[in-house]
Amino acid sequence: MALVRLTGLTKTFARSVAVHPLDFEIEAGDFLAVLGPSGCGKSTLLRMIGGFETPTAGRINIAGRDVTGLGPENRPTNMVFQGYGLFPHMNVRQNVAYGLKLKGLNRDEVVGEVAEALRLVHLEDFAERPVVKLSGGQQQRVALARALVLRPSVLLLDEPLAALDLKLRKAMQEELRRLHRVVGGTFVFVTHDQGEALSLANRIAVMEAGRIVQVGVPEDIYRRPASRFVSTFIGEANVLSGERRDGVVTLPWGLSFPAAGPDGRVSVVVRPEHVALASDASPAGEVRDVVFLGSFVKLSVRMSEGTELSIHLPEQPGTGMPRVGDRVSLAWRQENVRCFDDRTSPRE
Ligand SMILES: Nc1ncnc2c1ncn2[C@@H]1O[C@H](COP(=O)(O)OP(=O)(O)OP(=O)(O)O)[C@@H](O)[C@H]1O
Ligand SMILES: [Mg+2]
Repeated sequence: MALVRLTGLTKTFARSVAVHPLDFEIEAGDFLAVLGPSGCGKSTLLRMIGGFETPTAGRINIAGRDVTGLGPENRPTNMVFQGYGLFPHMNVRQNVAYGLKLKGLNRDEVVGEVAEALRLVHLEDFAERPVVKLSGGQQQRVALARALVLRPSVLLLDEPLAALDLKLRKAMQEELRRLHRVVGGTFVFVTHDQGEALSLANRIAVMEAGRIVQVGVPEDIYRRPASRFVSTFIGEANVLSGERRDGVVTLPWGLSFPAAGPDGRVSVVVRPEHVALASDASPAGEVRDVVFLGSFVKLSVRMSEGTELSIHLPEQPGTGMPRVGDRVSLAWRQENVRCFDDRTSPRE
């Protein structure tokens, strides 16, 4: 049975719908990333699960109990906010102990639990340090410890790493993965960073304009995006406009291939690493740019009628790389191409 079950969950603010009626389940032990662009409703969804926002309609069930009418303190959840929300006048230990004291644990229990939580986030040596004298990453870890110490069944994390620089963010991502392994439990992690979602989560829910538009394991979402929006939001993608007649799609420079579906305009999506250079008697493209990026070379190729494609070629010592101005033909495997009927995706 699912640990968290959302049924018809909806949030409408005065004029706009932030979350459209939504049915969704989160399994115990999941590390779920809720991924989507700014304003798509991620925080609103998370805040409803945590009890910080009242749903306009629908129910929230956690561990078999309807918690829709309960406040945050009465739910088996805990939330880590983007701004950390630490008590600035307290030291590290006091911040982490605060929730335990509210729960009525005795002094010895509090001391033990706090020590354990600080050990988990590698802050044992900082217990007496005022939190205002910590770095951003250390404050972030205090916020995590403060949430973890209460042993929530569901830990809700709203872009907790957004304020950190790249190096610290990578380190904290590792930390979160490790914590999920060690502590267990269920993590729901909101982010607008697709790389972060791919590397952290075992399941991703992609949101677009108040709706969850695709759910799956990272590989699935990347390999089989359900829409043009998902394919461009996660990873890089070339989106080409094609025309379908009688089950054959034709691209602007004349390339045709079979792809079943109704007649009309289609978006043809192919990832840069799935395009190869082919030898052809009448090449239809010209290399416009070559950028060496270490493990791969990024080419920009302009086709005869003006379409530009991005191509990633693996770096292989000893093989000649194309040069700007070279005439080339392109090839890709049919199974790596996805066609989306333009009429069925009006919101893009
Ligand atoms: N208290 C509020 N009153 C009115 N509108 C709100 C309120 N909170 C959020 N909204 C609106 O609801 C929509 C969803 O907001 P939400 O904060 O959930 O987005 P988000 O996906 O978390 O975005 P971001 O990535 O920028 O944090 C937005 O259009 C936002 O303007
Ligand atoms: Mg948000």
